[in-house]
Parts: sequence; structure tokens; C-alpha cells
Amino acid sequence: MAQLVLPHEANVHGSVLGGTVMHWIDLAAAVTANRHCRRPVVTAAIDEMSFLAPINVGQLALISARITLVDKSSMEIRVEVGSEDLLTGEQRHTSTAYVTFVAIDPVTSRPAPVPPLILEADDEKAGHARAIERRRQRLARRAESTTAGR
Ligand SMILES: CC(C)(COP(=O)(O)OP(=O)(O)OC[C@H]1O[C@@H](n2cnc3c(N)ncnc32)[C@H](O)[C@@H]1OP(=O)(O)O)[C@@H](O)C(=O)NCCC(=O)NCCS
Repeated sequence: MAQLVLPHEANVHGSVLGGTVMHWIDLAAAVTANRHCRRPVVTAAIDEMSFLAPINVGQLALISARITLVDKSSMEIRVEVGSEDLLTGEQRHTSTAYVTFVAIDPVTSRPAPVPPLILEADDEKAGHARAIERRRQRLARRAESTTAGR
């Protein structure tokens, strides 16, 4: 996805609001999850993320997403965000986010199975173990927050 940053999306410093960037991340991840499973999907979790540099009004925000892990009904999507200065062509990386989507059965509204992920490139295979560890930590945090809510 590419988004030209317009004045109505800016904070008082003239750069895009963090919440707007998170909205774009959610959308890019949703489309990626939908394309993988061809089912309705919902956001289950967004991992901690940082904003490493501002994206200013008049610059292009570049958002790219790919699936990095699939389990029974859940999918982890890595989203990379960057900026491009349209006058100089300079590009900067600004954020990386990991988003978990869950596929939903349209009739029962319950989590539904998704197709497996076929790992082809060497970097995809190498990243798989790290993705499994991220999922383990995410589910531990989920269990903690579930207990805290009781
Ligand atoms: C996400 C949701 C469907 C999970 O439903 P649930 O009844 O808790 O189902 P389960 O516990 O069986 O979890 C289903 C899958 O989601 C995963 N999951 C659920 N919450 C998760 C979280 N916080 N982080 C990572 N994975 C999560 C589970 O690990 C499981 O994965 P698997 O099937 O691949 O093994 C449910 O919590 C929900 O509807 N949440 C609200 C979603 C929403 O409104 N999002 C914002 C707008 S789209």
C-alpha cells in the first residue's frame, strides 16, 4: 500500500498521526490475511511497535505486509512501514509491526481453519522459528491479561 500523507492526517508537528499509521497497518494486514485464507478475518492482536522516524505531510507512506506464520485459525502478518520523500526519492524504514488475524466462519462466527503456509525461500524458513517464539510469547501475554481481567 502507498499513502500520500495529507494535512488532515497530521499532528501539530506536521507528520502523520501514530494512530493513522496503525490504521494502515491493520488494513494492510487484513488484506494479506484475507488473501491467504479467503474468509472473513478479525484482528486478534497487534504486538508492541515503535515509530522510529516521522512521516511528514507530502511524503509517501509505504506499507508492505506478508504472512510469517499460520496455525489452525490464526495468522501472523509482518507489516513494514517506511517513508519516501517524493522530491529526493530517499526512503526510510519507520516501523515494523506483527499483527495476528483470526479467520472466522461466517455461519457460526467461530474461528475457522486456514490453509497452511508454504515456506519456499531460505529467509522464510529461517524466520519460521522466530515466528513460533513470538507466538509463544504472545499467547503467554494473552493468558496474563485474561487472568488480570478476572
Ligand atoms: C480473536 C477471537 C476470534 C478469538 O476467539 P476465541 O473464542 O478466543 O478463540 P480461541 O481461543 O479458540 O482462539 C482462536 C485462535 O486465535 C488465536 N488467538 C486468540 N487471541 C489471540 C491473541 N491475543 N494473540 C494471538 N493469537 C490469539 C488463538 O491462539 C487461536 O489460534 P489457532 O486457532 O491458530 O490455534 C475473539 O477473541 C474475538 O472475536 N476478538 C475480537 C476481535 C475484534 O473485534 N477485533 C477488532 C476488529 S476486527
